[in-house]
Amino acid sequence: MSEAHNEHESLIKTPKQLIAAIIAGFLVPIVIIVLLVNYVGNNALTGAGSSAMTEKAIAERIAPVAHVEIKDANAPRVYQTGEQLYKAVCAACHASGAAGAPKVGSTEDWAPRIKPGYDEMLKIALAGKGAMPARGGTSPDDVTDYEIGRAIVYMANASGGKLPEPAQPAQPAPGAAAPASGAPAAASGADAGSAAAAAAAMASLKTAAPAAASAGGNLDAGKKLYDTVCMACHASGVMNAPKFGDKAAWAPRIATGIETLHNAAIKGLNAMPPKGGAAGASDDDVKAAVDYMVSAAK
Ligand code: HEC
Ligand code: HEC
Repeated sequence: MSEAHNEHESLIKTPKQLIAAIIAGFLVPIVIIVLLVNYVGNNALTGAGSSAMTEKAIAERIAPVAHVEIKDANAPRVYQTGEQLYKAVCAACHASGAAGAPKVGSTEDWAPRIKPGYDEMLKIALAGKGAMPARGGTSPDDVTDYEIGRAIVYMANASGGKLPEPAQPAQPAPGAAAPASGAPAAASGADAGSAAAAAAAMASLKTAAPAAASAGGNLDAGKKLYDTVCMACHASGVMNAPKFGDKAAWAPRIATGIETLHNAAIKGLNAMPPKGGAAGASDDDVKAAVDYMVSAAK
C-alpha cells in the first residue's frame, strides 16, 4: 500500500517548494493580466475599429500612383522657381547644349548672351530663336513670363552671370478668370526630363507647322518642314532620333524601304510623334521631309 500512498503524495515537500508555489501562484495571473491589457490597448491592431481603418490611412493606401494636381483658378498662383522650371523643361536642351543651345555652366556660351542684357534674353526665350522653341515649348497657360525669366536667371547665374531675381508680378484679383482653370498642372516632380522636352518641342511645333506646310512634294518643301519642325529632334538626335546626315544611323532605316519611313513619319514611331508633332503639315510635306532627310544620309 505504500506505493499507492506515494502516488498521492503532495508535490510540495519542502518549505522552499512552498514559497516557490506561492510566488508562482501570484506571478502567473499578473503576467497574463499585463499581457491582456497590452493587447487591448495596442495601436498596431489591424481590422475594423483600429487605426488602420481611419480615413487618412485608407486614402493613403488607395491613392493612385501618379499624382496630378488640379489647379484652382482662384487660388493664388504658386510660381515655379527658376531651378524647377529649368530642370523640368529647359535642361532637355540646355544641360547638354543639344541643338546648339547655350550650355548651362559654360561661361563661354553664356557671356555673349548675358551681355545684351536680361530683357533681350527674355525676349528671345519668349519668342523663340532658331532651334530654341518659343517659351522653351511651354504654354503661357502653364508657365508665366515670370517663371521663364526666373529660369533664365537661374541658367545665366549658373554660367557666370550675376543677374538679380526678376520681380514677381502682382497676383490676379480673386475671381479673375485664370487661363488654366481645371487644367491638370504639369506633373509635379522635375524628373520627367526628356518627356518634358518632347512635349515642349511638340508644343512649339504645332504652331510652327502651318507656316511650313507649303505646296509641293519636292525637296524644297521637305527642307522647309525639316528646318522648322523635324530638326528639333533630328538635328541633334534628341531621344535617339536618327541624326540628320548620320549615314550609320539612317542606313538600317533606309533599308526598310522609303514607304516604311514615310509611314513612320506620318503615323509616329515610339518617341517620334506623328508628323513630328506638326499636326497641320500635309502628308506630302512630311514625305518630302523624309525624302530630304534620307537624301542627306545617303
Ligand atoms: C528644344 C531645345 C530647347 C529647349 C527645351 C529650351 N531651349 Fe533655350 N535655347 C535653345 C537653343 C538651340 C538656343 C540657341 C538659339 C540661338 O541662339 O540660335 C537657346 C537659347 C536660349 C537663350 C539665349 C537667348 C539669347 O539671348 O541668345 C535663353 C535665355 C534660353 N534659351 C532660355 C530657355 C529657357 C528659359 C528654357 C525653358 C523654359 C529653354 N530655353 C528651353 C534650345 C532650347
Ligand atoms: C520630338 C522629336 C522628333 C521630331 C520633332 C521628329 N522626329 Fe522623327 N524620329 C524621332 C525619334 C525619337 C525617332 C526614332 C524612333 C524609333 O526608331 O524608335 C524618329 C525617327 C524618324 C524616322 C525613321 C522612321 C523609321 O521607320 O525608322 C523618320 C523617317 C523620321 N523620324 C522623320 C521625321 C520627320 C519627317 C519629321 C518632321 C516632320 C520628324 N521626324 C520629326 C523624333 C522626332
